Amino acid sequence: MAANPDTLGRPVRDLRVSVTDRCNFRCPYCMPKEAFGPDHPFLPPHRLMTQEELKRIVGAFVGLGVHKVRLTGGEPLLRPELPAIIRSVKHDLKVEDVSLTTNGWFLARQAAALRQAGLDRINVSLDSLDEATGGRMNGLGFKVSRILEGIDAAAAAGLPVKVNCVVQRGVNDGEIVALCEYFRARGHVLRFIEYMDVGNTNHWSGSQVVAARELVERISAAFPLEPLVPAFRGEVAARYRYADGGGEIGIVSSVTEPFCRDCHRARLSADGKLFTCLFASAGTDILGLLRRGADDAALGERIAGVWRARTDRYSEERAAILAAGKAREKVEMSYIGG
Ligand code: GTP
Ligand code: 5AD
Ligand code: SF4
Ligand code: SF4
Repeated sequence: MAANPDTLGRPVRDLRVSVTDRCNFRCPYCMPKEAFGPDHPFLPPHRLMTQEELKRIVGAFVGLGVHKVRLTGGEPLLRPELPAIIRSVKHDLKVEDVSLTTNGWFLARQAAALRQAGLDRINVSLDSLDEATGGRMNGLGFKVSRILEGIDAAAAAGLPVKVNCVVQRGVNDGEIVALCEYFRARGHVLRFIEYMDVGNTNHWSGSQVVAARELVERISAAFPLEPLVPAFRGEVAARYRYADGGGEIGIVSSVTEPFCRDCHRARLSADGKLFTCLFASAGTDILGLLRRGADDAALGERIAGVWRARTDRYSEERAAILAAGKAREKVEMSYIGG
């Protein structure tokens, strides 16, 4: 089936697949521990896509033109079959770019197996180099030093690493330059992410967002930066190079400089629902269709139909929606896969 643009002319090119809605961390900006306590209704195992089901559904997206697949969670390394899932996406479905987003806690012991399974690259979340701040930002005091070891292990296993840092004013914005210094010395791309109003529980406030423009100014004062042209249309992070040749950084500015017009991303939750935006309220149950006996062609047609009808551009509409007091329930980021 040929590529099928949505109502705004955007074909589907990338797929983010959540392999579990669970996470061992409780970052307050994502899964605050008050909202994600022991009583939180996480998905029971029988509702998760099995490895075979995931392969069939991802295969349907590949048939529609998807050539980048990112595995996420929750925390994807909590899923024991992860290497097998990577193997089937890379080797059976022959997806060009297979990547993973992780909090890094279990990375040191799994990096080599992930690489061997066919993973092309990895993005690790790390918000601070300081143990006290880092522990607060992952909600449970998990040690930064172990995440850094995970990053080293991934690099040693031959995986290109990007580091994702969510910036919150008054929490970790004092560390921006120190983070640049640390990761440029190690040759990893560091990306700063504007704090977003994902989900319904993080008590987001615009006053905690450090705008992309300010980030660039503050970094440039220590390490002059030069903008780079995007590697491809629709790249999430705006890229900059250090003028002294010390590598590059990225800024994900979904709040102050939205990039919806080039958004070619579909999202699949761990229970096999298709979401057409990170800020969506509802998804389409593709796994249910599969379990009721749909064949591959029917799966492809359903997905293509949903995509053709897509109108999403939340980040471009955010200001107007919030000003009009029209905020609605959104899915949680840990469920939908970031
Ligand atoms: P690369 O392919 O390495 O560029 O990865 P990525 O930036 O697409 O994925 P990653 O999981 O590293 O995401 C980094 C940040 O960008 C996360 O906070 C994501 O939630 C955010 N992000 C990714 N895609 C989108 C999107 O379509 N819309 C919005 N608003 N944010 C996104
Ligand atoms: N704002 C911005 N980024 C977020 N992430 C999780 N919650 C938020 C938020 N509220 C990031 C994680 C990870 C990526 C998948 O999403 O830190 O790097
Ligand atoms: Fe877990 Fe990542 Fe969410 Fe933190 S941001 S709670 S590590 S899924
Ligand atoms: Fe895509 Fe929605 Fe993010 Fe806009 S807000 S870039 S439409 S996922």
